[in-house]
Amino acid sequence: MTEAELYTLYKGVYLPTALHPPHSLKYYEEFSFRSDDIIIATYPKSGTTWMQEIVPLIMSGGDSASVESLPNWDRVPWLEESRACILKIDERPSPRMFSTHFKYDMMPPSFFEKKPKVIYVMRNPKDVFTSAFHYYGTTSFLVKPGPQSEFLRKFLDGKVMFGSWFDHIKGWLDADDKEHKMYISYEELIMDLKDSVARIAQFLEKPLEAEVVEKIAERCLFKNMKQNKMSNYSLVPLEFMDQTKSKFLRKGIAGDWKNQLTVAEAECFDAVYKDKMKDVKYKFVWD
Ligand code: A3P
Repeated sequence: MTEAELYTLYKGVYLPTALHPPHSLKYYEEFSFRSDDIIIATYPKSGTTWMQEIVPLIMSGGDSASVESLPNWDRVPWLEESRACILKIDERPSPRMFSTHFKYDMMPPSFFEKKPKVIYVMRNPKDVFTSAFHYYGTTSFLVKPGPQSEFLRKFLDGKVMFGSWFDHIKGWLDADDKEHKMYISYEELIMDLKDSVARIAQFLEKPLEAEVVEKIAERCLFKNMKQNKMSNYSLVPLEFMDQTKSKFLRKGIAGDWKNQLTVAEAECFDAVYKDKMKDVKYKFVWD
């Protein structure tokens, strides 16, 4: 199926219509944030699911029930997805935890008034592309990636769900109210998960004993998260996401793009990256 059949063009970006029908976009536009809400903001395939495991464990002081009782999409729901409307989110006690793939300039008015805490997770875009290439082939709600070179062009042009990676990252990096925002990369999580968990806990003003930090980091290792049926998407019906083609928790490494992109594709990617990111001051781990 084509973009025209599967996607809605919303505020200039493609969204898969099956997940984001008009009423759920309206729900998000009118959503009332609280100042103590916690938002995990990501471009898809950057480590959202990982953070949906880490943050509840931190906020519960390491209690594993926090990630074993609800699937990740209800535990830290996406505000733009249809399920958000039926979860009675306004009845949840503070601090509530949410996810969003929206660009900064797509956030609703209440977000800018209440200034909730945001953890923005970034990942080397070549690995985001690689992860997306495999993922798009597994779902019924996304346009099949087609040949890699074609999907690369679409990715670099932002003709994929949630638009251009470059616009997404630049928008969130330029965001106001930096004291309410934490920027962390997938690569930092890979390099030192314990230290990352400790830093996130500090940002969330949740003091944790060293052994609790260690327990959370252990629990959030790729091999362990893969075993959690509440986080590995095994509860999703096959016709919606066919993990026999590629697991959602696929490889969980940094640098897999080297196994995926040809030399010419990587060079093309680098050239676009250099141009689009030329004014960005942020020092990325992957640069
Ligand atoms: P790969 O496809 O490269 O393996 P998102 O949740 O934003 O869609 O991101 C999915 C990516 O994060 C997948 O990348 C997935 O394997 C990876 N991921 C999820 N949990 C992880 C973990 N505990 N450790 C490392 N990578 C993880």
